[in-house]
Amino acid sequence: MSESGAPAGGRPVGELVVGILGGTGPQGRGLAVRWAAAGQRVLLGSRDADRAGEVAAAVAARATAAAGGEEVSVQGGSNADVAGAADLVVVAVPFAGHAELLAELAPALAGKVVVDCVVPMGWDELGAYVLDVEEGSVAQQAAALLPDSWVVGAFHHLSAVTLEDLSQPTLDGDVLVVGDDRAAMDLVQALAGQLPGLRGVYAGRLRNARQVEALTINLVSVNRRYKAHAGVRVTGV
Ligand SMILES: NC(=O)c1ccc[n+]([C@@H]2O[C@H](COP(=O)([O-])OP(=O)(O)OC[C@H]3O[C@@H](n4cnc5c(N)ncnc54)[C@H](OP(=O)(O)O)[C@@H]3O)[C@@H](O)[C@H]2O)c1
Repeated sequence: MSESGAPAGGRPVGELVVGILGGTGPQGRGLAVRWAAAGQRVLLGSRDADRAGEVAAAVAARATAAAGGEEVSVQGGSNADVAGAADLVVVAVPFAGHAELLAELAPALAGKVVVDCVVPMGWDELGAYVLDVEEGSVAQQAAALLPDSWVVGAFHHLSAVTLEDLSQPTLDGDVLVVGDDRAAMDLVQALAGQLPGLRGVYAGRLRNARQVEALTINLVSVNRRYKAHAGVRVTGV
């Protein structure tokens, strides 16, 4: 990120509108319902604005119930509109669509914090495995495509099933945050802290995103063996 200035204008995380690209999928919906219930304003993006609107209405209803009837703010739109309108944008599309979407939205995402939770995962007869990413990691691919955005990697180790299961009001685990800009990472750590029970933990520079992304695949293996929705917890900090 070459431009000067503080990420999100230095505003506190609670004041920010969080956009989620691919927000109609389980991971986007799960993050959205938890953030909205906590009072965060959320925009859900999709390739189909109508679908985004329908999903946003359903997420808003669930978030309102989880918030004990408090008013919540969840709206849907095209990925392009969400990228333009949000203060901070989470990328939650499959790896297969990642590069194309970010290349297309690069102008709209300029000057914004972009949080990538995409995992480069493949499947074969032996189970899940890590796909090679030419840039080193998905987050580094995002940084290469978005030279005028602050790219941060986070939220890889949160299970969508657990996020969407509002019978568990409090979550359990840490969110490993990787990036190259301290202020942008602080903001994303604070955003992680908006999820009940979770904590954002600094986990190194973007060049170390590969291990964080790949660890998700070990968690998938844990989940299959133990029929669980495992996360991670860093001890000692
Ligand atoms: N599910 C989890 O537990 C979990 C946990 C950690 C990280 N993640 C990561 O989070 C991301 C989203 O996971 P998910 O399970 O929610 O995935 P998903 O359901 O497969 O995809 C999410 C949304 O992305 C959009 N999409 C699909 N293909 C696309 C393409 N080629 N280009 C642009 N948009 C496309 C779709 O929305 P529209 O059709 O409405 O556009 C879809 O609803 C993935 O990268 C995954 O690795 C998931």
